[in-house]
Amino acid sequence: MLPKPRPVLARRLVVVSNRLPAERGKSSTGGLAVAVQAALEQSGGIWFGWSGHIGEAGAPPHIVDTGRLSYATVDLTRQDYEEYYNGFANRVLWPLFHFRSGLVEFRRPDLAGYLRVNRHFAASLAPMLTPGDLVWVHDYHLIPFARELRSLGIEQPIGFFLHTPFPPVELLRVLPNHRDLMEAMCQYDLVGFQTEGDLQGYRDYLVRELGAKDLGGGRLLAMGRLIRAEVYPIGIDVDVVAENALAAGSSRLTRRLLESLRDRDLIIGVDRLDYSKGLLARFEAFEKLIEIYPETRGHVTLMQIAPPTRSEVPEYLEIRRTLEAAAGHINGRFAEFDWTPLRYLNKTFNQRTLAGFFRASRIGLVTPLRDGMNLVAKEWVASQDPNDPGVLVLSCFAGAAAELTEALIVNPVDRLAITEAMQHGLTMPLVERQERWGAMMKTLRRNDLTAWRENYVRDLGAISAGK
Ligand code: G6P
Repeated sequence: MLPKPRPVLARRLVVVSNRLPAERGKSSTGGLAVAVQAALEQSGGIWFGWSGHIGEAGAPPHIVDTGRLSYATVDLTRQDYEEYYNGFANRVLWPLFHFRSGLVEFRRPDLAGYLRVNRHFAASLAPMLTPGDLVWVHDYHLIPFARELRSLGIEQPIGFFLHTPFPPVELLRVLPNHRDLMEAMCQYDLVGFQTEGDLQGYRDYLVRELGAKDLGGGRLLAMGRLIRAEVYPIGIDVDVVAENALAAGSSRLTRRLLESLRDRDLIIGVDRLDYSKGLLARFEAFEKLIEIYPETRGHVTLMQIAPPTRSEVPEYLEIRRTLEAAAGHINGRFAEFDWTPLRYLNKTFNQRTLAGFFRASRIGLVTPLRDGMNLVAKEWVASQDPNDPGVLVLSCFAGAAAELTEALIVNPVDRLAITEAMQHGLTMPLVERQERWGAMMKTLRRNDLTAWRENYVRDLGAISAGK
């Protein structure tokens, strides 16, 4: 963050992201849409992005006004969707930014589609902008977006926030167009990351590959422009989640869940069905738990909720098949006539229901192989009963691990480490659970969603005021 905090400017906030909530006003799966929805509800403004639908080329944006907040959305053509979204964004940038260079499938037409959609989005948004707007662009789909706005004569400061990890230089160099993409990223004035490690990767790239000067204090001189790059860990609205959990704790669905468990301990995982989430390792670690700690048999249930996502991308089809086989294998091996060890659900639940399920669980299992932040980890903590909180098992490769240091931190590459942490959590005394939980709640309150939005908007506003 910039050294001198200034008050948040009363300017209109214009947020741009690929994904908007599926149903306006309702929460959806995926950290970005949930967090941005909550942040924009607090501040008001415009939210511009993809409608989530396939349509004709060149149609004007569809605008829905809900008072403080307006949604402006554009459709993608089938070709745009294939090349920009399924292709370059999710078969190149996503795996690369999650340190999975082996999964990168680079095709030049996909790159062309990615650049074309960014140009088209910028051309659709530009007429709606006024010079005083604070423009805040989100995530890897839209890295060249500022360059496109600049080419249309938009001069005001533009901010970017990356929700995913940012890879180290050598990994980024795998990308054939890395230089062009990063030069385009220099058209932003404020670039925000989830963790220090991500910021470090970005700074290293600019200095080593683009000859940028690191001026200190989060300022870089690159491509003839002054860029500020800072860490803004995204948070949650702690009270809303806690209230949801309290209310949903006695809801019909949570009661049904508890009845079905019959006093068994619940271990819960909630993740988009994505290879970055480490679900196979998690299943295998759970299988080991039942294998090497026989006292858990019949007494512990893992419920993994994994809503399918990006289902037309081959790597996602493959992970889905793999997990179905693994779940079948575990239940086939250990299930009893009155106990199913693993409940594997490919469906979405709303935030409130999930908060109730989290509260009913003894262990929150969040073990991604790489994750920008992982808001499920934070929501799980905020959902716990203060008198009898559970234990969070958290991957050291989730951005959240930098903050939630009182979780049981594991390296998910070592399956047995996850197994041991589960067993540790199942047997942890109440006092220790309360201490760890209390410390994590303090952190969540300090770095909550309001702090994330206000710090970022304040810094972007300060750049605008300085111009
Ligand atoms: C992650 C990404 C978001 C994305 C979300 C859901 O959180 O950082 O940009 O919106 O996943 O993925 P989807 O492809 O469905 O938008």
